[in-house]
Amino acid sequence: MKIIIDTKENCAKLAAQEYKKLLNEKPDCILGLATGSTPEDLYKELIAMNNAGEISFKQVKSYNLDEYVGLTGEHPQSYRFFMDDKLFNHVDIDKNNTHVPNGIDIDDEKAAQYDKEIEAAGGIDLQLLGVGNNGHIAFNEPGTALDSVTHVVKLTQSTLEANKRFFDSIDDVPTHAVCMGIKTIMNARKIILMAYGKNKAAAMAKAINGKIDLNVPASILQLHPDCTIYMDQDAASEL
Ligand code: GLP
Repeated sequence: MKIIIDTKENCAKLAAQEYKKLLNEKPDCILGLATGSTPEDLYKELIAMNNAGEISFKQVKSYNLDEYVGLTGEHPQSYRFFMDDKLFNHVDIDKNNTHVPNGIDIDDEKAAQYDKEIEAAGGIDLQLLGVGNNGHIAFNEPGTALDSVTHVVKLTQSTLEANKRFFDSIDDVPTHAVCMGIKTIMNARKIILMAYGKNKAAAMAKAINGKIDLNVPASILQLHPDCTIYMDQDAASEL
């Protein structure tokens, strides 16, 4: 694991340079994308670079990590809506090449098809990740199997609590999500994880300094051959 500790602003700028390098080397690369407040600054950097003509997404295919079960792409809290709003609507990507798991009428068998699609596209070149307060990656909650592929998950109480800020009340937070599995994520050729804020500090300390533990899904990234972690001082405060 490569660890970079800098301000939130600089982390976004540095990570954006990794995307610039990849997009220039491989214009038809496959990006694994993430939602949450963490990647928003990075997406702003990518939009600025795209608008300045420094990078192009014209040939890019993207696969998002996860989606809430039961929300259509029109729902403002769906991850499809988020991606359109925060990135896709502002860059030259072909929307037909952007993929977010389908959260409607989904079961494990249908969900696993997402892995097949990713494989058929050539596999993910660069997977972006945030981290949950409990160390989850995507919505892979503590205890998720190492060999899991895209599947339906029941969200833990701690995740429902953390995500209720986006909804009117905790009762409105979907109880399930569909998300890439640990294996899907680990198959990516390169991974970037970003973490900001004190509420991520305990999880990041365990993920980086602890033993590899299925109960801290982010710790499994220690096994990945090319994983860079960008974090601010607060997220690094318990290292
Ligand atoms: C959700 C998402 C994760 C994300 C996490 C942290 O649980 N499924 O992919 O990493 O939230 O979100 P934030 O970046 O807002 O802290």
